[in-house]
Amino acid sequence: MADFFFSAPAGTHAHRKEDQMLKQLNPSELVISPFDILDKSWALLVAGVEHPNPMTVSWGGFGTLWNKPVVTLYVRPTRYTWQLLEEHPEFTLNVMPARFHGALNYCGSHSGRHINKWEKAGLTPQESTTIAVPRVAGAALSFECRTLAFQDFDPGRFLQPGVEGNYPQKDYHRIYWGETLAIWIDDAFTPGQE
Ligand SMILES: Cc1cc2nc3c(=O)[nH]c(=O)nc-3n(C[C@H](O)[C@H](O)[C@H](O)COP(=O)(O)O)c2cc1C
Repeated sequence: MADFFFSAPAGTHAHRKEDQMLKQLNPSELVISPFDILDKSWALLVAGVEHPNPMTVSWGGFGTLWNKPVVTLYVRPTRYTWQLLEEHPEFTLNVMPARFHGALNYCGSHSGRHINKWEKAGLTPQESTTIAVPRVAGAALSFECRTLAFQDFDPGRFLQPGVEGNYPQKDYHRIYWGETLAIWIDDAFTPGQE
């Protein structure tokens, strides 16, 4: 798994959870490599309140929409996570240190529809500060988000022939835009570590 692709400037708040020193950042303080952070490190998307579920993602983005700091997700309708995002308009996105690679592999190859992926992957939910959906304990970087809108891909608007090749099952992604309500970063991690 890749190194970390962000730096950690001075934050506004800090607290210790278990053995982690977490610091809250304003969105404008966060420095990441947007093309690498998900593609190379992967992340755990958590959705659901009564039975939250972690799912591995590597496609997504970070930017500004409607004057808000927004996280963008792409989730296929075949995922249990898709159903959970339909039921409750909040999610967390959690970039994990390299030692969690096995857990990320597990959560990216097993559905939580009938199993508890937290237990199976050795993960622990951690209460969020602004939303009902938990973060993942041990995350190097977490986003707490409120879903603002969604939209399904229209294959009739794919302009390059290669794009359709991502959908042999015709399970076109649903795009979710989430307003970032809180960002938590592990003080111990700096770029190039691990
Ligand atoms: C590295 C990696 C990245 C993935 N990225 C995505 C993604 O961005 N969107 C998506 O819908 N599925 C993605 N997946 C597939 C889901 O993680 C996988 O189907 C998972 O088992 C779904 O879990 P769920 O049914 O509990 O939601 C990815 C899988 C891996 C291994």
